[in-house]
Amino acid sequence: MPNLTIKISKEAIAHNLQAFKKEIPEACLMAPAVKANAYGHGLIEVARLMEKSGANWLCVTSTDEALKLRLADIALPLLIIGPVLPENASDAIKSNSRIFLYSIEAAKALDQVAKIKNQKVYVHLKLDTGMGRQGIPCDQVLEFLQDLSGLNNLIIEGVATHFATADEDKDNGHFLMQLEKFKKTAEQVEEILGRKLIKHCANSATAMLYPQCHMDMCRIGIAAYGCYPSDTVKQLWEKSHSPLKPVMSVFTKVTQIKELPADSCVSYGCTYRTENNAKLATIPVGYFEGLPRSLSNQGCVWIKNKKAPIVGRVCMDITVIDISGIDDVKIGDEVEIIGNNISAEDLAQATQTINYEILTNWKESLPRLVC
Ligand SMILES: Cc1ncc(COP(=O)(O)O)c(C=O)c1O
Repeated sequence: MPNLTIKISKEAIAHNLQAFKKEIPEACLMAPAVKANAYGHGLIEVARLMEKSGANWLCVTSTDEALKLRLADIALPLLIIGPVLPENASDAIKSNSRIFLYSIEAAKALDQVAKIKNQKVYVHLKLDTGMGRQGIPCDQVLEFLQDLSGLNNLIIEGVATHFATADEDKDNGHFLMQLEKFKKTAEQVEEILGRKLIKHCANSATAMLYPQCHMDMCRIGIAAYGCYPSDTVKQLWEKSHSPLKPVMSVFTKVTQIKELPADSCVSYGCTYRTENNAKLATIPVGYFEGLPRSLSNQGCVWIKNKKAPIVGRVCMDITVIDISGIDDVKIGDEVEIIGNNISAEDLAQATQTINYEILTNWKESLPRLVC
């Protein structure tokens, strides 16, 4: 057994997806993002649960993830929303995935492989409406479409964009600009092609707060895992909905307990010295497993119904906690790192990062226990 137990709640996944089923129109496809090892929750385990909980499509980040899902007999349509290089074309087609398209090089490679295999490949034009990341700048989309002509094995099935600021204040200007730009450009593309496309732009924040973003499909990420894209979104959502349920909890066990006198050094660099006599415990978890080193002398874990601060530097596979004043702690006692009492948000706040990073940090090779 590993030193760390990562539990995945199937009931929480079902609850969260159900909340979105209620929120979005019936005809709108629910396409949760299982990219990045399902936001750290375990790609295969989560894909299976989502398939059972009403997901229509799944979004992955790479051909690698798509192939892993196919090997695990996941039959849902897959959309690769991450980068696809020309060299990935063969795997993309083998995995029978839809692809976010924004480069002519990838388009040509996909077309060529599809032709050889006598297959068609479905692509979704990814528009950059103001995220400044992956995507076709809107003023270049007509030229892009011209460059695609002759690539007869590609079928443009959808058109999409991604927002940079939708989790911030409601109706912020940049978000509204992106939305308008997307609507206008997507319509232009439909006019040129002379047919309707699957139009999609919603991530968690916009699926939760802006019904006008639902369109034909919602790519819900963090919220499917019961966490919120930001505090603002949490507050606005919970005004009129029941809270989402966090899917992941993480536990470990006490491996050593000791008492040290005042002014004792704790862990590498002696960045912590006991003020008084202290009772400390070690837990067999560190940055190797995914507990951020930036939690050194920051944040807490939960043991015997009390908070125990992390003291000294988080090491590769050992961390020290201060259990002074917590009675009856024994070797083997359970320690909650994330759960009902310490949230991914608490750890994110302690390390000045976001819950996304805390969740995705857990090493892929650690088993995920579905319960
Ligand atoms: C293109 C795209 N769509 C949707 C999502 C889901 O975003 P969120 O987790 O904020 O819902 C992501 C996540 O980064 C993304 O890159």
